[in-house]
Amino acid sequence: MKWTRLEVWDLFAGGGGFSTGAALAGCTVAYACDAWQEAVEIYRENHPGTRAECLELPARIPFPTDGRPFHVHGSPPCQRFTDMGRAHNTCTSVAKAGTLVEWFLETALTCGATSWSMEQVSKRDTIAIVERMRKRYPSRVAYATIDFYELGVPQRRKRLIAGSPELIGRLVRMCGMERRRSIRNSIPRPRGTMVRNNKGWTHQRLRHARKPGESKYVYSKVTDADCGLFPLTGPAPTVTTCGDVRWWWRTADGTPRMVHTHEHRSRSPERRVRRSERAVSLAKDAN
Ligand SMILES: C[S@@+](CC[C@H](N)C(=O)[O-])C[C@H]1O[C@@H](n2cnc3c(N)ncnc32)[C@H](O)[C@@H]1O
Repeated sequence: MKWTRLEVWDLFAGGGGFSTGAALAGCTVAYACDAWQEAVEIYRENHPGTRAECLELPARIPFPTDGRPFHVHGSPPCQRFTDMGRAHNTCTSVAKAGTLVEWFLETALTCGATSWSMEQVSKRDTIAIVERMRKRYPSRVAYATIDFYELGVPQRRKRLIAGSPELIGRLVRMCGMERRRSIRNSIPRPRGTMVRNNKGWTHQRLRHARKPGESKYVYSKVTDADCGLFPLTGPAPTVTTCGDVRWWWRTADGTPRMVHTHEHRSRSPERRVRRSERAVSLAKDAN
């Protein structure tokens, strides 16, 4: 039997972001799972042709056993490894998050998949887990920290991508200045020229001669002069959310619905442009 479209299995699938990319790339997403019922309902709306399960991992996944080629992808939760998440961490929560990453890597490498990939935040802890796995499976594990700005995403977004060496090699080779897209390129009719960062700093640099206990980066604080504004001719700073991370909500009749970015109260580039415009007009009024 000849398989024409690569089959993809998406674990920790959320509302289906990765699956959407896989489908756009010409793959068939056969299976997806997530522990969050609401996310799974949204996933089903986004990908009606995929078998989507609400499943708390680690668990047994019914991977194909008939020899057909398939790709397995996983985005285990990353909040526990992020600087924001660290504020709420306990030793147990970090260990649990690490266990899910280890479980996914072990599963991806032993489930019979012909290729695999994983997305994570690029932190010392996560790199250490992937490096341990690379030492165990040197010919089947590769990883790189990739800034998705170099792949055409109009924001700075660094992620640890691990996977089959040929895939990671290809991804790294695809990165380049010629792929970069600015905010201006992705918003056809912006109503301003700047976008505001939601953080209290504009730039970070590695700390030289770092002493024990000192942070890795030194941050330049937002000043009155720059107001934390970035020009639309460059990338947006990393888009983040605060508080509730769900980008889908229930409507009045109880139906779950993915909220489009422009409607969402998160710091999407569009929202930032609107906020910046307001800041500029307020400044004009004040003068
Ligand atoms: C980084 S998000 C996934 C993003 C998704 N891949 C996308 O492209 O939109 C991580 C997901 O893992 C799910 N999750 C967290 N713990 C889980 C567990 N123990 N079992 C299954 N899913 C879990 C969360 O509900 C969340 O949707």
